[in-house]
Amino acid sequence: MGKIIAVANQKGGVGKTTTSVNLACGLARYGRKVLLMDIDPQFNATTGIGHMIDGNSISMYEVLVGDATLESVIVKNLRNGVDLAPSSIDVAAADLILLEQKNENQNVLKNELKKVKDNYDFIIIDCPPSLGLINRNGLTAADTVLVPIQAEHYAMHGVAQLLRTIKKVKETLNPHLTIEGVLVTMFDSRTRLAHDVLAEVMATFKNKVYSAVIPRNIKISESSIEGKSIFEHDPTGDGARKYDEFVREVLKENGY
Ligand SMILES: Nc1ncnc2c1ncn2[C@@H]1O[C@H](COP(=O)(O)OP(=O)(O)OP(=O)(O)O)[C@@H](O)[C@H]1O
Ligand SMILES: [Mg+2]
Repeated sequence: MGKIIAVANQKGGVGKTTTSVNLACGLARYGRKVLLMDIDPQFNATTGIGHMIDGNSISMYEVLVGDATLESVIVKNLRNGVDLAPSSIDVAAADLILLEQKNENQNVLKNELKKVKDNYDFIIIDCPPSLGLINRNGLTAADTVLVPIQAEHYAMHGVAQLLRTIKKVKETLNPHLTIEGVLVTMFDSRTRLAHDVLAEVMATFKNKVYSAVIPRNIKISESSIEGKSIFEHDPTGDGARKYDEFVREVLKENGY
């Protein structure tokens, strides 16, 4: 049965998409069957994993508003072992449409995922940097939430808010939701600030923090522009090594 992990942090630009793409591709390298689901209207995970969208293709927008099944939008085996449920700019409108629907508007993703989750070992949901209904759909459908935190100024800003949201979703919509783990990203070991942030994250989340810390690394940012995972773009570099370490921690904690 597929484990559903929502990668979420409402703070923008902290490495959610980069982590989603590399986690999905990294898990697949160990033979796991993975669905990467992009529910961000910026569709960075969609292009970041190398999928070209055109104006006619259907996406998670149709799924979220109830015009298509999840199964019908999935691009099969886009990367070895990774299927993609693509996003598009249209998804930006889904929040409002969901709001108008009112009934069951938190459960669309959950209901659609039920039908396909047995086809996968892991389903990775790349959430948008917001706390709207799309995000709430993600957290309602998920078994766990994985939080990337950027080792920079104001890293912890918004984390309290995110924890409140998770608590609220837990109390009302999804009592089983737990934290999968916290991943420190864009760590620059030369700066005092990065070490301070790491210490603060460890003090707050304790054993939930992955031992692997993702370095700030130009190859990582290049890889998303190239539409490749770091394992393809720079397989022997620091970024690939650290993302692989993180992937192995996720596998181990999930009994693989
Ligand atoms: N470890 C890293 N080293 C260097 N650049 C990185 C690293 N991780 C991510 N980036 C770059 O930082 C930017 C933001 O990363 P990313 O898109 O993964 O964040 P995000 O949290 O998904 O953003 P958003 O909130 O807009 O969805 C991107 O340009 C990405 O390529
Ligand atoms: Mg993103």
